[in-house]
Amino acid sequence: MSNALRAVRGMNDLLPAEAPLWARFESIVRAWLKSYGYREMRTPILEHTGLFKRAIGEVTDIVEKEMYTFVDELNGESLTLRPEGTASCVRAAIEHNLLFDGGKRLWYAGPMFRHERPQKGRYRQFHQVGIEALGFAGPDLDIELLLMTARLWKLLGMAEHIRLEINTLGGAESRARHRQKLIAYFEARQDQLDEDAKRRLHSNPLRILDSKNPAMQALVEAAPKLMDELDEAAIAHFEAVKRGLEEAGIPYTVNPRLVRGLDYYNLTVFEWVTDKLGSQGTVCAGGRYDGLVAQMGGKPAPACGFAMGVERLLVMMAELGLAPEPDAPDVYIVNVGEAAGRFALMAAESLRDGGLDVVLHGGGGSFKSQMKKADASGARFAAIIGDDEAAAGEVAVKPLRGEGEQRRVALADAVLMIRGSGNGKRETGNG
Ligand code: HAM
Repeated sequence: MSNALRAVRGMNDLLPAEAPLWARFESIVRAWLKSYGYREMRTPILEHTGLFKRAIGEVTDIVEKEMYTFVDELNGESLTLRPEGTASCVRAAIEHNLLFDGGKRLWYAGPMFRHERPQKGRYRQFHQVGIEALGFAGPDLDIELLLMTARLWKLLGMAEHIRLEINTLGGAESRARHRQKLIAYFEARQDQLDEDAKRRLHSNPLRILDSKNPAMQALVEAAPKLMDELDEAAIAHFEAVKRGLEEAGIPYTVNPRLVRGLDYYNLTVFEWVTDKLGSQGTVCAGGRYDGLVAQMGGKPAPACGFAMGVERLLVMMAELGLAPEPDAPDVYIVNVGEAAGRFALMAAESLRDGGLDVVLHGGGGSFKSQMKKADASGARFAAIIGDDEAAAGEVAVKPLRGEGEQRRVALADAVLMIRGSGNGKRETGNG
């Protein structure tokens, strides 16, 4: 196997054993999104590189070093695999004039691509479920987003393991004032800056506050605070968000160092964090981005949204023992003999016509080995077909779980017998 091909580093296969967990997550999420009036959007995975540069910001980790960008050799266009969903969602809303009659609540899900160093909870292809509420001002939407996420953690059974951090980035003017003060502050202390910080000093000084470098922590702690520059409207907005959370009984902490890695945010930003995932503990993040729609060429419209990292939530669900057992079929058809094989194909179709989930044994083998497979499949019943049964148009139905005798019945009666034996399927299986 030494020359066997392997998947690209940091890009994962989803194997059948993990699929039930993804399916459970997706069905809970879909119902949850519907319950808040969000409508689905699907955009292409490839976009023009300029879209992400414009939306996310030239001087961000994502745009500077994490995007999968290449030139389409057929026409010379620079294209990028989407590193996130907000830019595409806003582009599509503008392109299709979705906001012509007011605000829209939109959601999307799918793979995103970032060339980061892979580790637990961090991949180069990962999945997000994101929502964007376009065209809504006011702190009520910010509060709704937070209530909504809090509800999802409950629905998923992990509420007690996830906590909320919030911050406000203020409006454009206060950010500009803060930026000048930060530049002056860091310029006066150039000798204490690491390479990253020096590079960002003039292009994106806010990101220096996000530094993980222990040697710079004291410097960052003492840096000028945006909170001190906020205007009244921004303070009122933030106070309203905090009041809303308190009224809803959602605990939070204000983290003044929460600045986010994408440039489009203003006012409220937030992250939902867990201690269960080591260093990659942010499972959901977002905030307000009132300037983005206009910045991307649309009619000005306030907006806010968030995205969650599906893999991170699923790792947590698995570790908390919330993964469901694989679905088991109702019936496993054992068939030995050539005529039996042909009849078994028809019998399987007719059991499915009757609404049953059926696995037809493939690949031959002895009666005994097939019965072992039937048992391991988790099916409630084996339908056994030999050449005798095939000639008579019958099957021998054998319960595999609990009580009951094997009985030979006409194919037409097998559905009734199996369906009548219990309501629905077994919840658990062992295969
Ligand atoms: P983000 O913070 O870059 O925000 O990503 C959101 C979430 O995606 C993260 O909190 C994390 O759970 C997950 N995530 C990010 N990178 C990776 C990775 N390499 N591997 C696994 N999971 C990852 C955004 O993308 C914004 N578009 C969110 C938003 C929507 N803001 C407003 N609307």
